[in-house]
Amino acid sequence: MVTAEIKKVGLIGGGVIGGGWAARCALQGIDVVVFDGDPQARRKLDEVLANARRAHRALTSVSVKREGTVRVVADLEEACAGVDFIQESLPEREALKIELLSRGSHAARPDVLIASSTSGLLPSRLQSSMENPERFMVAHPFNPVYLMPLVEICPGKQTSEESCERAAAFYRSMGMKPLRVRKEIDAFIADRLMEALWREALWLVHDDIATVEEIDDAIRYGPGLRWALMGSFLVYRLGGGEAGMRHFLEQFGPSLQWPWTKLTEVPTFDQALIEKIAAQSDAQAAGRSIRELERIRDDGLVAVIKGLKSLDWGAGNLLAEYENAKHAKRS
Ligand SMILES: NC(=O)c1ccc[n+]([C@@H]2O[C@H](COP(=O)([O-])OP(=O)(O)OC[C@H]3O[C@@H](n4cnc5c(N)ncnc54)[C@H](O)[C@@H]3O)[C@@H](O)[C@H]2O)c1
Repeated sequence: MVTAEIKKVGLIGGGVIGGGWAARCALQGIDVVVFDGDPQARRKLDEVLANARRAHRALTSVSVKREGTVRVVADLEEACAGVDFIQESLPEREALKIELLSRGSHAARPDVLIASSTSGLLPSRLQSSMENPERFMVAHPFNPVYLMPLVEICPGKQTSEESCERAAAFYRSMGMKPLRVRKEIDAFIADRLMEALWREALWLVHDDIATVEEIDDAIRYGPGLRWALMGSFLVYRLGGGEAGMRHFLEQFGPSLQWPWTKLTEVPTFDQALIEKIAAQSDAQAAGRSIRELERIRDDGLVAVIKGLKSLDWGAGNLLAEYENAKHAKRS
């Protein structure tokens, strides 16, 4: 089966991430069948879809003739039989994922690729009870899946190279950026980086050095602006001035020994710390609902990606390539 034939996708779990996958697929004209145990799943999916349509319209003039249908079912086998691709987005519980992935793999056609959205579990363990485990891999997306291009692809010990290539081609056809993880590790690449920042941020709140809002300001008015453009290493290269990266490393390398950060320690997550963070976060949200905040986030992401498109750079370059491919297919 070639990638172009993926017309129907089965989703195991339709929460924050499963809902994002449903929207990403439906806006490409792909039909979706979602298995989810939550009685509120239909309402939540409809709300995510409404936000996704709005963001997609603002992002690109590429549109499909017919949006894919999104059907919610209460039976796992129904979501896996008769589909061309399966994406699992259940809660981060290894035993649950292993069990449902195994059942799903028995219900699916043997050639159907199966991917897990897990943020950190190892693919070799997740594929351990599957039928045809060579077609399974982790494909770790970012929230909101309908706008964020990155999907980290991490194969397990039994995964075939061909499966990874076919999955990457499928995600690419939906405007995403598949990034292959070279070795199987917990939490892959981006979550490791985010966890390092998150650990340090928790200490800053714990020690009353900054509130959650002040920490977010430190990111969004500062390094966060550069991260979207250049990541970490290219930014530091510029930080070294004309002498470049070599000078930067000589200048700042020694500070790693001092050390400035507390990365290897974790503050105790007692009730007091949880209350402190939750209360500061409520104040920061200033009464805005999750859906409102999602729309602000989406509008910002659209603006950044379109800005980068005008520079033919990074995530904007990817959008331009996606639009060109879609327009070429039509003409
Ligand atoms: N939230 C994020 O930012 C994020 C980002 C990338 C990856 N992930 C990963 O994606 C996966 C899903 O995370 P999420 O944030 O969407 O979680 P979530 O809690 O929003 O969604 C999980 C969904 O699974 C359903 N579910 C739970 N048990 C079930 C069962 N036994 N049968 C059927 N449905 C069941 C729930 O009703 C819920 O809708 C996790 O592996 C997580 O690590 C999350």
